[in-house]
Amino acid sequence: MSKGNFPIDKFQKIQTPFYYYDMELLDKTLTTVKEETAKYGFTEHYAIKANANPTLLKHIASYGFGADCVSGGEVKAALEAGFDPAKIVFAGVGKADWEIETALDGGIFCFNVESVPEAEIINAIAGAKGKKACVEIRVNPNVDAHTHAKITTGLSENKFGINLSQLPMVIGKIESLENLELIGLHFHIGSQITDMHVFEALCTKVNEIVEELASAGRTFSNLNFGGGLGIDYQDPDKHSIPQFKEYFKVFNDNVKRSANVKLHFELGRAIVAQCGTLISKVLYIKEGEVKKFAILDAGFTELIRPAMYDAYHSIENITSNDAEDVYDVVGPICESSDVFAKERKLNKAKRGDLFALRSAGAYGEVMASQYNLRTLPKAYFSNNQNSI
Ligand code: LLP
Repeated sequence: MSKGNFPIDKFQKIQTPFYYYDMELLDKTLTTVKEETAKYGFTEHYAIKANANPTLLKHIASYGFGADCVSGGEVKAALEAGFDPAKIVFAGVGKADWEIETALDGGIFCFNVESVPEAEIINAIAGAKGKKACVEIRVNPNVDAHTHAKITTGLSENKFGINLSQLPMVIGKIESLENLELIGLHFHIGSQITDMHVFEALCTKVNEIVEELASAGRTFSNLNFGGGLGIDYQDPDKHSIPQFKEYFKVFNDNVKRSANVKLHFELGRAIVAQCGTLISKVLYIKEGEVKKFAILDAGFTELIRPAMYDAYHSIENITSNDAEDVYDVVGPICESSDVFAKERKLNKAKRGDLFALRSAGAYGEVMASQYNLRTLPKAYFSNNQNSI
């Protein structure tokens, strides 16, 4: 999406900061995922944690995606948005009793179990309800995702999943619990992974694990490879559709499986990141001793990724075509980490200019907070221009 693709006239009339979603791009993205998974008979789930805006959820559900949830709130949101309960999976290391009950009452597909004590509680709650809960074991395969440490999940030192040495014991334990049915294994090694070799390494590791368990007589009908496919934050217009083709092909080519084994995927970022933009207004240009600051009316309360993960987001001044200048782009929050970008070249900015912070559809709006008693940002959609 270039400057020209934003309805700037309309933007100028509404209160900033806000999120703007390009629904045509979302449609193109969802269609691509459906086409690629259909080639191989894979099942696609959307990881709700990436963006739980109800309008987006309904839209994604309408394409027949399943949902990956990590809290009772997300399970409720998935059900309300119309996701098929038979395609909802529920992961997370700390599921509270009420969350387990919500999921059981909603009739979800399965729980991705991360510890023996958790399995015992799901077993007890399911028993009290006279139900049987389907579970997959989340395995920590100790495969390095080569991504930011704060979004790496598949190393032995991470809190997620069951370590390989403990897997046979945990399988035995779960099989002994009468209200649980063990149907598969779940893996998720991290996020923002753009190197396909990492996913190849995951496939190799999963093959080893599955073969070893099969030789001990244990087979599984479901393998869930989690999410993690990354996007191009540097050049969102060049790669507005992530590498779905290459990604799903890696699994088709590398996972050894018999015909009755179903492969599941739960992508979040790759589905919603590129269609979302945070629009913010320049409040002040402050000329410091050594820096020029563009002070925006959005801060890490609206988009925390740069402050939390040193993440790069492409930024454009969408109301100026003047010659470029160099700015530190900062927010109004009273914390020195409230910086979106340092030394960024942008069209010369003045008070009132609109800035677009691109690729913000994933882990943007959903991670917004009210710190400093700020107001949560509103969202607008390209296919509903009247609401803008
Ligand atoms: N499945 C599980 C079990 C997960 O924990 C996650 C993400 C996903 C699927 C979806 O991963 P994705 O396809 O979006 O990479 N807030 C961070 C990202 C945290 C990811 C947490 N888990 C960020 O802004 O980069």
